[in-house]
Amino acid sequence: MKGEGGIPAGGWRDDLRVLRQLLVGKRSTGDHARDLDRFYGPQAQAYDSFRERLLPGRPAFMQALPLQPGAHVVDLGAGTGRHWHYVAEALPALGSLTLVDLCTPLQHIARQRFAGQPQVQVVHGDATVWRPAPAQPPADLVVFSYSLSMMTDWQAALANARALLRPGGVLALIDFCTLPAAPPPPLRPLPAWARWFWPRWFRHDGVLLREGVLPALLASGPTQALHQCHARLPYLPLAGAPWFHWIGEPQSAVRPR
Ligand SMILES: C[S@@+](CC[C@H](N)C(=O)[O-])C[C@H]1O[C@@H](n2cnc3c(N)ncnc32)[C@H](O)[C@@H]1O
Repeated sequence: MKGEGGIPAGGWRDDLRVLRQLLVGKRSTGDHARDLDRFYGPQAQAYDSFRERLLPGRPAFMQALPLQPGAHVVDLGAGTGRHWHYVAEALPALGSLTLVDLCTPLQHIARQRFAGQPQVQVVHGDATVWRPAPAQPPADLVVFSYSLSMMTDWQAALANARALLRPGGVLALIDFCTLPAAPPPPLRPLPAWARWFWPRWFRHDGVLLREGVLPALLASGPTQALHQCHARLPYLPLAGAPWFHWIGEPQSAVRPR
């Protein structure tokens, strides 16, 4: 049975499958691609319906992206590509949309989803080092949707994103986050308990919250949009997890402060 946007309507059995995997956690063997396959493989069919509730803010984030006709867009850590349905009407006019990911089971779903849309390419690659073929134009827009926090080397991933962009190109991220105790303005500080708790909570599932990410983005160039929010997570009767969305124009390779 299909739900909204062609997503299988997740029942409690699907939720149980995902929750079991989240409780087991993401093991680290030193082979990141293999670890991702083993973590996401058993929950791949239930991924989209559960992440609709687990990953807050994606519809507004996607609708805020500059998706001009002819634009070349790269999505690093694109997973199943479900979030592109929020802007489905803009896709046919794009110059290209390249969905890069390291996880084969999630990419299998992305390939089915975008079959028949020749401007969308699903590419198996590591976001920290992936480069397009030399003939391809530089990107107008690079996107990370809840993926930077799953990349083992976030600084390399951001530096690579910058290298993929044309001068004046736009970088856009949405993710869970933590912050330094006294973050630079205009960032709003997080309570000490949140800075302690959420990185430990997420780490079990391979989601690494780093306090340097948002300050590095703000220092990288003009900010076009910044949102800091909280959201309750499914089946977790706690205060909301902090997340952000940032859209900006990095002027040089993004470096940690
Ligand atoms: C939480 S999922 C988010 C997927 C998708 N962007 C979304 O919004 O639903 C994180 C994604 O990052 C991918 N990922 C993690 N590390 C990666 C890397 N080094 N290179 C490419 N993809 C990576 C995972 O395979 C997974 O698809």
